[in-house]
Amino acid sequence: MKIIKVATPEEGAIKAAEIVLNQIKHKPASVLGLPTGGTPVGMYAKIAEAVKAKKADLSKITTFNLDEYYGLPKQDAQSYYTFMDVNLYTPCALRPDQTHIPSGTAPDAEAEVKAYEVAIVKAGGIDLQVLGIGGNGHIGFNEPGTDPKSRTHVVKLTQNTREANARFFNSLEEVPTEAMTMGIQTILSSKSILMLAFGANKADILFEALKGPITPQNPASFLQRHPDVTVIADQAAVTRL
Ligand code: F6R
Repeated sequence: MKIIKVATPEEGAIKAAEIVLNQIKHKPASVLGLPTGGTPVGMYAKIAEAVKAKKADLSKITTFNLDEYYGLPKQDAQSYYTFMDVNLYTPCALRPDQTHIPSGTAPDAEAEVKAYEVAIVKAGGIDLQVLGIGGNGHIGFNEPGTDPKSRTHVVKLTQNTREANARFFNSLEEVPTEAMTMGIQTILSSKSILMLAFGANKADILFEALKGPITPQNPASFLQRHPDVTVIADQAAVTRL
């Protein structure tokens, strides 16, 4: 595992974008796994800047998002589809056929998650999976206790995660109670992984994930089993490392 310590989230965004763009330069038809949340916003902005300056060509990539709320239509302002559209798809002019995200309104959720997993395999598997880390160690929406062998599945969100995400909604009641997420095994099947952690509120869980025991109680700890993981963390997040 490679740990890159940066001074600020801004520096982390530049470094993360550099790694993603290098991956695409090296393999233009790369399959990328992508997160939402506060952490990757700066990285997406840097990638979009490079595309606008014609320093990067994203026309051959395929993307798969980690997760989506179940119950939110894609047009909802809080759906992860909208987040990706605003931060990456539209600024980088990605075509709809290049991007994948589970449908929050699929009538048959079980069929949707199964089809998602098949689509990833059909695309050739994920070359680079970018991750954030939840305050409780979740990756994607794989909450503590998730089976490490899990593939894309439907989950009930914990109170902790709903409270953490309530900042994007008008109230806690509006935060959906379920989501669809790649599983831990889906994530670990990626050829390489880049995890980003910024801020003091990630310091304890990041330390536990990287240096503590491998346990379902901290889903990010399973990354210790992957042979190609890079972590970019800012000063505030590495105080215990
Ligand atoms: C989002 C995701 C989550 C976030 C995590 C951290 O697609 O998969 O695991 O990465 O909740 O969120 P932020 O970046 O908002 O701290």
